[in-house]
Amino acid sequence: MRSLGRGGVGVSLGLGASLVEGAAASSPQQLTVMPSFVGDLLDPTQSHGDLLVRVAGEHSAAVREAIQGVKAVAAKTGWTVRWAIDGFRADNRVEGGRGLARNPFHFTEGFGNPDSEREVVDRVLVRDGQGEPEWAVGGSYQVVRVIRFATELWDKDSVPEQERIMGRGRDGRWLDGTPTAEEPNFAADPKGRRTPLDSHVRLAAPDRRNPPPLVRRSYSYDRGDGDTGIIFSCYQRDLVQGFEAVQKRLEGEALAKYVLTTGGGYFFVPPPGDAWIDALGDE
Ligand code: HEM
Repeated sequence: MRSLGRGGVGVSLGLGASLVEGAAASSPQQLTVMPSFVGDLLDPTQSHGDLLVRVAGEHSAAVREAIQGVKAVAAKTGWTVRWAIDGFRADNRVEGGRGLARNPFHFTEGFGNPDSEREVVDRVLVRDGQGEPEWAVGGSYQVVRVIRFATELWDKDSVPEQERIMGRGRDGRWLDGTPTAEEPNFAADPKGRRTPLDSHVRLAAPDRRNPPPLVRRSYSYDRGDGDTGIIFSCYQRDLVQGFEAVQKRLEGEALAKYVLTTGGGYFFVPPPGDAWIDALGDE
């Protein structure tokens, strides 16, 4: 990942399809403008764009300062901000090698991510021989989805009902009693009595031996007036096998009536170093 960190703040770039189109080198094969999926209501003023700049850090003052710096560079070079959103991670922590945080539905997210750096790299980074342009090897496809939550509706459900919709306890515990860090045996529950068949985790990752090849890193947002939710973000080396396969499986999930995707986009995070700039620059 490209990180221009200073003062504990990391800045990463994601290239949009509109930017790499027409560049001297060929584009990442699967990079398109993010399509609208079933149930989405994408606001074009909050979606897509030439470049995604992600600024993240532990201290909001340092992050804000870095954002001012990014905006100053953008203004000098003639770029305009198409859309922006502030995010945060409540109860942000690392446990058992995984980054965890609590979302506005009161559930802890991150358990399904890999616990080793090797597995993260395996799922996230574009490899040689994958049919991608040489400059893109070591980069990653990033998907961003701004997902609004119907928190009032959600909070009317009991905690056990909510847990059946997610397929895990609020604290990550499996509904069949399997400890958090172990794999549940969905095959022993074919009718979904313990973990409903239309629950989020059961649809997202039905085959426990072949987890979906993506790594999630989401943030919560709160824009006031009840407009709260998550800035879902995931990285993968193959967009079709990663995000798109999971997103299609999630169609009709029990969670669908509580969430609405209103923005986001598809981006390609270039590999570290400057070789990609030379490759994409005008000849
Ligand atoms: C709509 C808002 C969403 C909420 C509230 C949500 C919440 C959660 C929670 C609480 C978990 C269980 C803990 C964990 O493993 O992190 C989870 C797992 C997961 N979610 Fe989501 N998620 C959302 C959207 C998505 C989307 C859009 C995708 C991808 C298309 C996705 C993919 C996954 C995957 C792959 C897992 C791991 C399943 C496993 O390995 O057991 N989620 N999500």
